[in-house]
Amino acid sequence: MTSQTPFDLRWFAHRGGGDAAPENTLAAFETGFHAGFRAFECDVKRSADGVLWLLHDDTLDRTTDARGPAAPWRWENLQLVDAGSWHSARFKGEPPPSLDAVLDFAARRGVWLNLEIKPNPGEDAATGDAVARRAAQWSAAHPSVPAPLLSSFSHPALLAARAVLEAQHADVPLALLVEAYSAQALAQAVALRAQALHTDWRQVTPDTIAAVHAAGLKLRAYTVNQRDVAQRLLADGLDGLFTDRLELPRGL
Ligand code: G3P
Ligand code: MG
Repeated sequence: MTSQTPFDLRWFAHRGGGDAAPENTLAAFETGFHAGFRAFECDVKRSADGVLWLLHDDTLDRTTDARGPAAPWRWENLQLVDAGSWHSARFKGEPPPSLDAVLDFAARRGVWLNLEIKPNPGEDAATGDAVARRAAQWSAAHPSVPAPLLSSFSHPALLAARAVLEAQHADVPLALLVEAYSAQALAQAVALRAQALHTDWRQVTPDTIAAVHAAGLKLRAYTVNQRDVAQRLLADGLDGLFTDRLELPRGL
């Protein structure tokens, strides 16, 4: 257990534990937690048999010892792949987690999750629907833990999520991810009744922060790995950021 003061909820450990552990694994979340993080971003997609699990890419190539597109894989086989060795020998054999295992972590630690919906190609609406259903169900069962923030670059995924949340009267926040900030992107986020817009930090200026705040939304930025940039953006009023550098928040 860390003896240092935990970081506030503006600071998200990117992909669970930034660059200190294999991305999107339970080892990453534990590493991020012990570094002081209490908010965590991760990437969620569906297995061929409908299990929600964590992977960033469309393929298994970069972050596991398996190869090829992720979409055809069933969970019984996915949970056997090694998602740790690519990072370093000490994480050899670390499996990819199911979303449910990550939700268990959040409940155990009382932390905030940002679930980035990262659909397999062609599965946008189905993945948005499934993540929203699970988040709404979990959130209702864990009222003392912050409801997961659901984000996506996929507008269809967020539309499907919004439909589920509306039908269930579920208070689960959404965020639209965009590579480039624009007035149109902000309007799209407003129409989704999103809580926030998430964008590349290079897109963030005092004017973009002011415009997003004037629309009643929060603005967060990925992926901020430089201390001076983090300091400047937060001083300008940015509401949150995603970092790979677990030591970055220390002293800021
Ligand atoms: O959700 C913020 C950030 O993770 C978006 O980009 O490619 O790292 O998932 P990416
Ligand atoms: Mg992500």
